[in-house]
Amino acid sequence: MNVKVAVASKEIRVLRNIHGREFLEIDHPAVQARISLEGAHIVSCVPAGEEPLLWMSPIDPEEPGKPLRGGVPICWPWFAGERPGPAHGIARTSQWVLTDTYSAPHLLRLLLELPEDTIRKQLPGEAWRLQAEFELGQSLSINLITTNLSDKPQVLSQALHSYLPVHSIHSTQLWGLEGASYVDQVTGVASNTQHGAVTFTGEVDRIYYDHRSPIQLEGAEDQRVIVARDGSQSVVVWNPWIDKSTRLSQFPDDGYLGMVCIEAANAGPDARILEPGETHTLSTEIKRI
Ligand code: BG6
Repeated sequence: MNVKVAVASKEIRVLRNIHGREFLEIDHPAVQARISLEGAHIVSCVPAGEEPLLWMSPIDPEEPGKPLRGGVPICWPWFAGERPGPAHGIARTSQWVLTDTYSAPHLLRLLLELPEDTIRKQLPGEAWRLQAEFELGQSLSINLITTNLSDKPQVLSQALHSYLPVHSIHSTQLWGLEGASYVDQVTGVASNTQHGAVTFTGEVDRIYYDHRSPIQLEGAEDQRVIVARDGSQSVVVWNPWIDKSTRLSQFPDDGYLGMVCIEAANAGPDARILEPGETHTLSTEIKRI
């Protein structure tokens, strides 16, 4: 059961479930969406008259602190295990605040911020500003804006870990990565080359690097989705396949059949060093064509 705790605007309500997890519930003429304030994690985005843009696990942990599998988890300020600490960093388990909204007939824009002191407490000796801007409408755009507030350089790796729905992983193909180099995180082999489209016949967990162009997902029933990126020369492609699906928490055993992650990233060889005062924006846009 959800309780309405506030109205941020005509189109945005803040709901709290019985376990205390808070969501922005968005009901706008152009789009319906839901964003968890824990993690600034968009868990649903349905453009008016369209199918959902994002895949979400049917197993909802509801409780704060437990990972939501699906939507777009924000991995920051490190990707996976690139630094000691929780996998994919601290942003996805921290409480964000809504700081600004803008509404037009065809879109809704929301700005969320992870408070600086929340970051300082978890990353002693570091100083960052982190904002996430969501632009919701016929497509979904996310800008993750990081500023180094420290007086020394700081290392940043990150990802917008988008889970996309597919009708069947067996007939899913990703185009746009032909010829790209990748780190294979399943085999541990650091230097591989993509030949043809990416297809799925087992676990896929790859960081493609030196790559900027959009990726096109093609699937059954004429599904066509474009994932474009900016500020990103790496993209992670992930499907856990059979064994890992059974090991993942909040993930159904057959979940791998209906999803694929295409993650705009600064990961692996594309990690960044931000100089004092420098701002870097990682962006992704997901749209059906
Ligand atoms: C992907 C990684 O980005 O995220 C995978 O490449 C990882 O290795 C997956 O398993 C899920 O991560 P987590 O921390 O949400 O289980």
